[in-house]
Amino acid sequence: MKVQTDRRDALAAVADAAASGVFERGEKDDTFPRSLGKEDEGTGGALKAAWERKEVRGKRKELTVFHRPDGRGRVVLVGLGPRARFDAETVRRAAAEVVRSLRGKGARTLSFRLASFVADAVGAEASARALIDGAVLGGYEFSKYKSRSEGGVEEATVHLGEEHGRDEAALKKAVAEQSEIAETVVWTREIANLPADTATPERLAEEARALGKEVGLKVTVFDEKALAEMRCGGILAVGQGSVHPPRMIVLEYPGGAKRGRTIAVVGKGITFDSGGISIKPGLAMQNMKFDKSGAVAVLGILRAAATLKVAPRVIGVLCASENLPSGSAYRPGDVVRTFNGKTIEVINTDAEGRVVLSDGLGYVVQHYRPDEVIDLATLTGAQVVALGDDTAGLVSNDDKLAQSLLAASLATGEPVWRMPLTDYHRELVKSDIADVRNSIEIPVAGMLTAAAFLETFVGPGTAWAHLDIAGASYTTPATRKYQPAYQNVGATAFGVRLVVRHLMASARS
Ligand code: BES
Ligand code: ZN
Ligand code: ZN
Repeated sequence: MKVQTDRRDALAAVADAAASGVFERGEKDDTFPRSLGKEDEGTGGALKAAWERKEVRGKRKELTVFHRPDGRGRVVLVGLGPRARFDAETVRRAAAEVVRSLRGKGARTLSFRLASFVADAVGAEASARALIDGAVLGGYEFSKYKSRSEGGVEEATVHLGEEHGRDEAALKKAVAEQSEIAETVVWTREIANLPADTATPERLAEEARALGKEVGLKVTVFDEKALAEMRCGGILAVGQGSVHPPRMIVLEYPGGAKRGRTIAVVGKGITFDSGGISIKPGLAMQNMKFDKSGAVAVLGILRAAATLKVAPRVIGVLCASENLPSGSAYRPGDVVRTFNGKTIEVINTDAEGRVVLSDGLGYVVQHYRPDEVIDLATLTGAQVVALGDDTAGLVSNDDKLAQSLLAASLATGEPVWRMPLTDYHRELVKSDIADVRNSIEIPVAGMLTAAAFLETFVGPGTAWAHLDIAGASYTTPATRKYQPAYQNVGATAFGVRLVVRHLMASARS
């Protein structure tokens, strides 16, 4: 979707649809809001009349469509809910509701009247960013395999109107930056949605190489031979049951600042997780093409880091394997030696994410000595049970890093909740015959024992944050109706906006 700004008032311009926000009408003050005067004028008084007969109530998700008597398109009013509970996420969802309602309805261009989405709690810049997130992501649909598409909004314009008196240059910059980020999320979703027959580990490597050429990143792909030389036994073990050989893919963005920090981002890239020999029951396997979401998010994060020229140096690592059962598959009882020499006793081949990440984490820490390591992984079903399918679990050994990610989460609307990591969890993952085991015999704290396992491969002395994105990485037709309108069925690219925000904030600290 093309996104731009315009100084004029939205209703003075010509677009197929012009959207404005309306707060929920108060019980005491129920008079027609003067701020909607322009919309009322544009609709030839139809809006005020609708207000008088209580057709417009301003409740969240409420959409009211008017046709302009001058024939210049539609005016869409979207409810923002109570003014007291107004926040950026409300704007994000409202913009998405509008865009989705226009799908297949002959509206190619859409304008937003920025001032109608601004209040004390959400300033012009935050509101403009949220409108763009909502419009671009709300307009996205995975249509690669559809022979016909309905068509929707292709061009969105944020009209500054009375807001143009503010710092117009800053607003324009924010709009350009946010549309770049939102487009990267769409780009990421497009790869994350690819099925496992297409998105093999080698295909992820090809995507990384193409991205490297496009935005200027150094890309190194370690194939199965290189991985064997490097003794990356974890990635190799998980991938050995598949005809699609595993890859470890490393992308380097040099950083915009001179003596900047180095931040490493490591992603779980299981292109399909059948569970392996510890095979999953059929229904649990249904969405396991999304088990590569962490790694694909890393691609997106590196893309945005390069196009936005963030200050820190960023290293991306994708640990890509396919987890299938076969005559050559790894099995329960096997012991694998990983990149940094630590050994893993395989108890359950379905706990494969931590096994591939062991090499990626060990490698990036030893090779780049990063100031921070962030991993993204669809790691455990326990995460979904504990926090649901909207909120990611955060485990970190560093309060400052954790705080920055939680602040980013508030800004982007991607929910994250910090969870504890204690010696209890560390004790649980010790193995009788190796350094660690990949699963335990009692059904407790699955998200946290997985984190304790990962921590072994980062080691002490490196600030580390683990994001378990199992639930938040995709939506299904069943869960879709509970999710915000900017999230269609399929991959969410959860973590891209969040980590990019963190990278942008580390420029300032
Ligand atoms: N990929 C799954 C986790 C998952 C579950 C992601 C649901 C998205 C939705 C992971 O590899 C897995 O199977 N984990 C096991 C670990 C267990 C065997 C210790 C789990 O959570 O059951
Ligand atoms: Zn698994
Ligand atoms: Zn998995």
